[in-house]
Amino acid sequence: MIALITIPVAGSFAQTPKKKVIPVKKPATQAATAADIKEGEALMMKSDCFACHKVDVKLVGPAYKDVAKKYPATAANYTILAKKILAGGSGVWGQIPMAAHPQITQADATKMVKYILSLK
Ligand code: HEC
Repeated sequence: MIALITIPVAGSFAQTPKKKVIPVKKPATQAATAADIKEGEALMMKSDCFACHKVDVKLVGPAYKDVAKKYPATAANYTILAKKILAGGSGVWGQIPMAAHPQITQADATKMVKYILSLK
């Protein structure tokens, strides 16, 4: 027990006493919030997504509205599609492959998917 006692050094306990704030730690795959959707769209604007996709019409890749029709907005689909964005690939909508996006994080890709699947 004695080993656990530390002498408070000036400043080390300066923070306000901890209130009972329960952190809302939601895994990235849970229900889409309005903030997630907005951020997802903003991330896609900064990336190359709209070079190959449009919301309403098929371009190189499927229209995002068609993607939203095919996949219900579930946690499982967020994960599957986020992985697809990272890894790229073909065969679901045709033979043209989607480029891989190794620079995007799974968390950001999940927000992008939340935006896409909100387009009904
Ligand atoms: C080089 C063109 C290209 C770019 C850039 C691109 N896509 Fe795609 N995307 C495609 C093609 C082609 C498909 C269809 C792939 C298939 O048939 O499996 C696709 C499919 C998808 C799908 C559906 C995947 C499935 O398995 O049903 C999603 C979601 C998607 N893209 C999101 C994105 C996002 C988000 C970005 C930006 C980070 C992006 N795409 C950038 C061409 C592209």
